[in-house]
Amino acid sequence: MGSGLDIAIVLAAGEGTRMKSSTSKVLHTIAGRSIVGHVLAALAPLSPKDLRVVVGAQRESVEAHIKEIASHATTVFQAERNGTGHAVQLALDGVKVGGNVLILAGDTPLLTSFTLQEFLDAHIASKNDVSVLTAQLPDPTGYGRIIRDEFGGIIRIVEERDASEDEREIDEINTGVYLFNAEALTSSIHKISKNNSQGELYLTDVIALIKNESNKAGAIFSNDYTETLGINDRSQLAECAAIMRDRINDGLMRSGVAIIDPTTTWIDISVKIEADATIHPGSGLYGKTTVAKSAVIGPRTTLTDVSVGCCATVLESHCTAATIGDNANVGPFSFIRPGTVLAAGAKVGAYVEVKNSTIGEGSKVPHLSYVGDATIGSGSNIGAATIFVNYDGVDKHRTVVGDEVRIGSDTMLVAPVTIGDGAYTAAGSVITEDVPAGSIAVARSKQRNILGWVLRKRAKTASAEAARKAGATE
Ligand code: UD1
Ligand code: CA
Repeated sequence: MGSGLDIAIVLAAGEGTRMKSSTSKVLHTIAGRSIVGHVLAALAPLSPKDLRVVVGAQRESVEAHIKEIASHATTVFQAERNGTGHAVQLALDGVKVGGNVLILAGDTPLLTSFTLQEFLDAHIASKNDVSVLTAQLPDPTGYGRIIRDEFGGIIRIVEERDASEDEREIDEINTGVYLFNAEALTSSIHKISKNNSQGELYLTDVIALIKNESNKAGAIFSNDYTETLGINDRSQLAECAAIMRDRINDGLMRSGVAIIDPTTTWIDISVKIEADATIHPGSGLYGKTTVAKSAVIGPRTTLTDVSVGCCATVLESHCTAATIGDNANVGPFSFIRPGTVLAAGAKVGAYVEVKNSTIGEGSKVPHLSYVGDATIGSGSNIGAATIFVNYDGVDKHRTVVGDEVRIGSDTMLVAPVTIGDGAYTAAGSVITEDVPAGSIAVARSKQRNILGWVLRKRAKTASAEAARKAGATE
């Protein structure tokens, strides 16, 4: 028997019928990682020399995903789902096996490397031919039950459907994680039969076979049953996602991140957050998002693939594929779209949408604006309700705004157009031509006041009366 892990087999051929989904069960995600991805991630530190994943239902998409996340894994195709025993027969077919074989299901995403390593160590120490990882469940319905003898040794595993009423009372269950001595497994795996209520080849029957043959079968109890929860439907998916969310948040809080309401804060496993950052309630941080120290995120903020600098604040906003610099301020109610880069100290305020634009150091877009395909220099101010008119109906064009520019409120910057350093635009202007540095562009019609118009055309109205009181005459 080897001292490490020689072969790991992940069973993932099932249909996942109860998910009622067009996506394979094991490709559904928790914390930004597929269910089978979590299983493979937990396995990775055990460094199995040979990693095999049995695929069947939705073969193409599952195989492609496995190739992407674990290129060293071999996928084995199980064309017909004849049971877990059949899946293992196929996985071992033509493989030169020796040492330890770990078998687990692809639908138990909460298993940790720590537990798997402990299980492996215990199995090796026991010198058994097979060890089964077991757990005690508050509700064991649906799981295989562990039948032990009067000395506490495992005799066999009985599936719920094949169990007697007494056996169903047992709350110690088979987690579906096993370690085998390779020779013992290969010599017994072809001896199992379909003699059960489902007419399938049960991997669990191998345990009784080994027990009878060599008496070297053991059950190893896992204290944290939540690790062994399997996902069969969407409500179990949500249950496992909540447990994973708590784990991730606990880890972050222990590392110094302030999470005000962990139950409403959803952070992908891939996200990195530095100590002293604060995450307010109702926020979701996804993908490759990173948050530097002392930044404040939320409440109710969504960040996907966003990098947030030190001491920046992002309040009630939705941001994707963007960089938010040190000390920058975003929100409330900002929409930051892909390709946005906010330099240090930049500000994007209420009801502002920014797309594919760079906003320079200390520049501000405080209110009610659309900034698309723009490059804005440093120290500039974009007045309220300014629109960067980037789309001519066919193509997108860029706008360049220099340093220390003052764009008047309600300006239309019709791209392509360039506003030179230190230039101004008058409020309400529609700017279609470049504005040279240091000049002011006024692009609106001159104001006319038609005196007494209200008194003549809107006589007897409240407005006319107010005007008369103020001394206006016809
Ligand atoms: C299985 C165990 C049960 C255990 C439970 C733990 C058997 C007979 N029963 O039951 O004792 O308590 O897991 O979760 O093993 N699969 C294949 N090919 C097949 C059938 C299944 O690859 O032909 C895969 C599935 O995709 C799944 C795993 O094996 O990932 C377990 O199969 P599933 O049908 O979910 O078994 P359970 O009824 O949950
Ligand atoms: Ca299952």
